[in-house]
Amino acid sequence: MSDKATLEVNGNKHDFPIIVGTENEVAIDIKSLRGVTGGVTTIDAGYKNTGSCESEITFLDGEKGILRYRGYSIEELAEKADFLEVAYLLIFGELPTKEQHDKFHADIKSKSIVDDDVRKIIDAFPKSAHPMGVLSSLTSALTAFNPSSVNVDSEADMYNSVVKILGKFPVLVAWTMRKKQGLPLDYGSNSLGYVENVLKMMFKQPNEDYVQNKIIVDALDKLLILHADHEQNCSTSTVRIVGSSHAGLFASLSAGISALWGPLHGGANQAVLEMLEAIREDGGDTKKYMAKAKDKNDPFRLMGFGHRVYKNFDPRARIIKKAADEVLADLGVDDPILEIAKGLEQEALNDDYFVKRKLYPNVDFYSGIIYRAMGIPTDMFTVMFALGRLPGWIAQWREMRLRKEPIGRPRQLYVGETLRPFKKIEKR
Ligand code: CMC
Repeated sequence: MSDKATLEVNGNKHDFPIIVGTENEVAIDIKSLRGVTGGVTTIDAGYKNTGSCESEITFLDGEKGILRYRGYSIEELAEKADFLEVAYLLIFGELPTKEQHDKFHADIKSKSIVDDDVRKIIDAFPKSAHPMGVLSSLTSALTAFNPSSVNVDSEADMYNSVVKILGKFPVLVAWTMRKKQGLPLDYGSNSLGYVENVLKMMFKQPNEDYVQNKIIVDALDKLLILHADHEQNCSTSTVRIVGSSHAGLFASLSAGISALWGPLHGGANQAVLEMLEAIREDGGDTKKYMAKAKDKNDPFRLMGFGHRVYKNFDPRARIIKKAADEVLADLGVDDPILEIAKGLEQEALNDDYFVKRKLYPNVDFYSGIIYRAMGIPTDMFTVMFALGRLPGWIAQWREMRLRKEPIGRPRQLYVGETLRPFKKIEKR
């Protein structure tokens, strides 16, 4: 492999260094492009070919269907680790020792109280508000209650912010759901594991003890791990770019939540379930919906299918599909929607349109079926995604600041009007 790439612009040749990642991915470093060419820029809508940073956190090979956090395979982590171990790994770079894990959890618990005035903010939202809008607002509001900004160069300060947000975020998640359901807003219990506590905070009825179900705890743990990071996706890039202006961690996370909300990104898990429901109500005719997805005059897309990076099976989808089968069987849930999903998948995998475009089920295709079996309302699915993605966003924000990345500020190619004279309003 040559160590430089040559570009000819207006008859002049310019060399750019080729850099190679630890997994032999190759990139052309065009940092000097505008300088050496006198202002020539590149256009790459949707950043389909543009790397925004160098990162040590997550490795993803979309052709081979590989996903690794800090070098550990997603399959192994989903099988053997718990969510807090994975959060620690992503944020601090190594799996925690037992001592570090216990301390991490204890510190998270000690910071989990949310200022009671946050209830007043929640009360101001109509019950009809989408939980993602509420969660994004509440996360932003946390800045008002925790105004000191993080000194990223201080390990202690950074650690403190990490445990603070990991402690408070599940409370916001639970309160967002409970407010909609008219249930009292309560705190969890410090005697519980992280995931058990999330479930209790979400589902405890005021007049009943909450009994943990191991199947549900394990399934949620696995789902959170599978969602914990996915390199430079839309919401993560948002978190990094907002943070690159040196906006605070909570403000950057709030922006990431808004980015995740869209149906082409995390909002797809809600959209998938609504689509499967619609197909079921329409008589279960999957072929009709396959035809709609392929019709270029129809805006309908098969939600939960396709991915910007995976041109092979999304490894997370493989694990979640298996988990969906197991969890529904263990819980004794017979959901006709699982059969519709499997039917659609089979048709898509054998359909020329989908095969040619390498469209496979993604992480969102089967996750909603598990969330539904757990009793989580459909409009909370993307909130659960946000809860899982939180450590990834934090890790990427921290990395971006520690690497002292410059403010994110893309270029453009202006294609509007050239200079023209102003006409007074009466002459227009
Ligand atoms: N159904 C039907 N056609 C599709 C789909 C789909 N789900 N996804 C892509 N295509 C077609 C698209 O019309 C285009 O066809 P053509 O080449 O004839 O114009 C081709 O496949 C390439 O699609 P694209 O939109 O250029 O690809 P992209 O990389 O810009 O978009 C995507 C990726 C995930 C936004 C897209 O596949 C999609 O909209 N999928 C459905 C929404 C979804 O499930 N999103 C969750 C993504 S995974 C989790 C996450 O990111 O949060």
